Order: sequence, then C-alpha cells, then structure tokens
Amino acid sequence: MALRVLISEEQIQQRVRELGAQIDRDYPDGLLYLVCILKGACFFFTDLARAISREVSIEFMGISSYGKGKTTSGEVKVTKDLDLSLEGAHVLVVEDIVDSGVTLHYLSQLLLQRRPRSLKIVSLLDKPERRIRPVEVAYVGFRIPDEFVVGYGLDYAERHRNLRDVCVLEETP
Ligand code: PRP
Repeated sequence: MALRVLISEEQIQQRVRELGAQIDRDYPDGLLYLVCILKGACFFFTDLARAISREVSIEFMGISSYGKGKTTSGEVKVTKDLDLSLEGAHVLVVEDIVDSGVTLHYLSQLLLQRRPRSLKIVSLLDKPERRIRPVEVAYVGFRIPDEFVVGYGLDYAERHRNLRDVCVLEETP
C-alpha cells in the first residue's frame, strides 16, 4: 500500500480557518454546542473549535455503523451518548467524512428528537457519489472523488489517523 497526498496540511488548515470564520458569521448569539463524532473527527474538531472565535461548548459522541459498504440496512449504534440535553441550543455536528450518509442520516433524526434550537452538520470531506441516504451538510471542507482516504483522523484498520495530510491509500503492484 502507498500513500498519495490528496489534500495537504496547508490546504486543510486554510480551509479550517475559512470554515471557522463562516461559522462565526452564521451564529451570532445563543449557546452553541460543537459535537465531535468519534473517532475520525477528532483532529478536525479540535482545529475547527479553535478557528471559531465565538463561545462554544465542546461535546463528544461515539457512533458505530454496521455493514458499511455491504448493506443498506442503515443500522447505527450509539456507543457514547452526550451527557447533556440539547433542548434550546444551537448544535453543530462535526464529522470527518460523509460517505454513504447512513451515519449522519440516523444521527440527525436522533438529535432532532432532542429539540435543539438548530441542528447543522459540518464535515471536512464529502463523497457525494457514494450517497445512499440523504444528508444536508451545511458546511463542507472538500468534496472528494470516490477514493479510499486516510489521515487527519481517518483510518484504515485504525492506522494512519495521525497523518497531517489527507492521503489516498493506493494498492501497490
Ligand atoms: C466514519 C466517519 C463517519 C462515517 C461516514 O466513521 O467518521 O462517521 O464513517 O460513513 P457513512 O456516511 O457511510 O455512514 P467510522 O464508522 O469509520 O468510525 P471512526 O470515525 O471511529 O473511524
């Protein structure tokens, strides 16, 4: 396997600054919860939170999806839930990638039942070609082609999460 840089650290950091500024403009008042979806979003989440100037509260949630890429059952399980109520708060879910959309479609429905003041999604990466469930993503860092990517939080069998760039994992002959 070989790694080819798809999005460099500099490109990521520039885009994160832009997203942070845009989020500052879009949320003028009210409590804002930034919700990190573990594990993949961890680095994007910490960089984005610090690119936002307004006050935020940081929260963490664990999700695991079953049969990804093999079935459209859409079965998703919460492995770590939030510790607080979302009622009346602006909620911004922070993800590393939207692929089939199964995870975020499920999660959006779950969180909306908790009556937040607003619910939006920010994702570093979006692979629209792979979508099988509709998901509205308010802020997208980069739209990417249907290639297997690792780095900056994304893994292959738990490897490569700590790379600073987003890389394509390619088969070597
Ligand atoms: C990844 C990613 C999203 C989900 C996107 O998580 O972080 O949560 O898959 O895929 P989908 O749009 O097809 O549902 P993963 O289950 O690999 O866990 P991880 O974040 O811990 O790596």
